[in-house]
Amino acid sequence: MAEVVIVPGEAEAGELVAGAIVALIREKPDAVLGLATGSTPIATYQALARRIHDDRVDVRGVRGFALDEYVGLPPGHPEHYRAVITREVVEPLGLTPELVRVPNGDPAGIEHAGADYERAIVAAGGVDLQILGIGRTGHIGFNEPGSSLASLTRVKTLTEQTRTDNARFFDSPSDVPMHCITQGIGTILRARHLVLLAFGEAKAPAVAAAVEGPVSANQPGSAIQLHPHTTVIVDEAAASGLEHLDYYRHAWANKPAWQGI
Ligand code: GLP
Repeated sequence: MAEVVIVPGEAEAGELVAGAIVALIREKPDAVLGLATGSTPIATYQALARRIHDDRVDVRGVRGFALDEYVGLPPGHPEHYRAVITREVVEPLGLTPELVRVPNGDPAGIEHAGADYERAIVAAGGVDLQILGIGRTGHIGFNEPGSSLASLTRVKTLTEQTRTDNARFFDSPSDVPMHCITQGIGTILRARHLVLLAFGEAKAPAVAAAVEGPVSANQPGSAIQLHPHTTVIVDEAAASGLEHLDYYRHAWANKPAWQGI
């Protein structure tokens, strides 16, 4: 089962994940990070930026792969995930821009973009630590319900629920693209360590389904149960639908320190 860590809030989650990433980079200076967008990981990126700065961590060799991208947003749009990753990750952390990739959502050549991205991840030796959020539909990356658990990077149609949820980042709901390109669930499962973050009551049903529900394409997040090393970090509200809360708290309180997350 996934390890579930219940924290007071996003700041504490951020400190935990930042600690794990700094330890990874110290051991492997060209570590490959899997980067999620959305509001969930923002506090984690902020904590990581602080740690890198305060502890003078050399991140020049760190590589990154974003999970997903919208298809067909006009160049320069602030919600292009390339722009989001630059603004929220590459610049504050001081990563080398050329070493951080985002799937190419340009409609010209989109039919090859998925396979190109897969090749690039394999050529980099795979993702060491993948940060994940989870959508209210249960999606990870942009793998909406029904996505094959073996899927690789490809173009998907967004659900109306996800378009509505993400409309807050756009001037008008109709500006949210219909299509995206996303790492598949099979791609995500190849990362060596998955760290899934979720905060707030709205995420509680998706977290419960992902951690304790049946493994099903209908709940893409449930694919984490197939992975040998997944850490789920949630606040009390996002954890509120979990059945085995007492056990998760007990296991965390008694976890050998050497294990890390
Ligand atoms: C977004 C992203 C996902 C993200 C999820 C949750 O649309 N494509 O990678 O994990 O939906 O978003 P948020 O973190 O804003 O709740």
